[in-house]
Amino acid sequence: MDASVITTTDLRKVYRSRDREVTALDGVDLGVREGEVYGVVGRSGAGKSTLIRCVNLLERPTSGTVEVAGRDLTALAGRSDRAPAALRAARAGIGMVFQHFNLLSSRTVQDNVELPLEILGVSGRARARKAGELLDLVGLSDKARAYPAQLSGGQKQRVGIARALAGDPKVLLSDEATSALDPETTRSVLRLLRDLNRQLGLTVLLITHEMDVVKQVCDSAALMKGGRVVESGTVAELLATPGSELAGELFPVGGQASGPDRTVVDLTFHGDSATRPVISQLARTYNVDISILGAAMETYDGRQIGRMRIELPGRFEDNVVPIGYLREQGLDVAVVPDAPEAVPVTGPVSVTDPVAAPVPAPAPVSTVKETAK
Ligand SMILES: Nc1ncnc2c1ncn2[C@@H]1O[C@H](COP(=O)(O)OP(=O)(O)O)[C@@H](O)[C@H]1O
Ligand SMILES: [Mg+2]
Repeated sequence: MDASVITTTDLRKVYRSRDREVTALDGVDLGVREGEVYGVVGRSGAGKSTLIRCVNLLERPTSGTVEVAGRDLTALAGRSDRAPAALRAARAGIGMVFQHFNLLSSRTVQDNVELPLEILGVSGRARARKAGELLDLVGLSDKARAYPAQLSGGQKQRVGIARALAGDPKVLLSDEATSALDPETTRSVLRLLRDLNRQLGLTVLLITHEMDVVKQVCDSAALMKGGRVVESGTVAELLATPGSELAGELFPVGGQASGPDRTVVDLTFHGDSATRPVISQLARTYNVDISILGAAMETYDGRQIGRMRIELPGRFEDNVVPIGYLREQGLDVAVVPDAPEAVPVTGPVSVTDPVAAPVPAPAPVSTVKETAK
């Protein structure tokens, strides 16, 4: 296992105002390995931006620690509002890309990229050389003398990325860097981040609310809800985790029960089970009619992972034995809860759990994950 280059331990952030307290981070443990692209997803308000701002200590965590490249930034922060020199030096090794680019409109592209180098006290000639290299790297050499207003959104973000790389960071943080861009520009910016990740060995921690972003570039991902990380892992691990909400959103296998008294089951095939005729054996052994509602096959890290949603006649209670059979065959099995309009609302049932106990809705899938892990 590669070493973590970003580690947060029990990170908490509570915003306090006169009459209100908001717990934006509620004990976040994150481990981003060197050289990977790690995506954090979640709805608005989940705490994603707070997390990334705590990683470079733009925001001071209420408690917990942040280590980047082996250095405990929380220990460097000191007590005053002004960041001490040691923290500023450590921050130079962390590049940050913003959703709204944050370019200075009165400066040329070249001068925007030089700005962090000016702050670091780099001489004029060295700055110009470095900025030239970086603009080349992001494919904007011909725009060095242009002003931000003369650039497209995608070009502005490339300038933002070049500027973030000025201090030769080991780590690049990106908060919704593509959210203001159209889909095609998004793809090209993501490709750039991926190329930089590969060429420079840059570790990228990116925040997004778009699953497509994770799908296109991330090696690993975490799902945040209410200030907590509720799921995390490599994309391959997530896909192989029964009931994983992230896997379900990344590679949806849709399909709803065709009527009452049906049991809908999500199956995950991996390794050996991916190549055996498990479904036809099930049908023959138990003489049941199986409908396939949806299926997806993905290859990750050279391994095939299949996901399939099937429907069995009868209620869960009637299907305990066939479901047990599927598990014996090495499949991960998660029973899909009834559609919301069905009564009563029954939570998901992990088959490891012998009793089909009703679980309070909503957010059913994360419940499965907890029992399945
Ligand atoms: N500076 C702040 N002061 C008070 N509350 C804040 C501040 N920043 C964020 N919050 C609150 O913290 C929670 C998490 O916000 P944020 O980290 O921006 O989430 P996300 O980026 O996932 O949308 C939200 O409830 C938000 O209103
Ligand atoms: Mg945000």
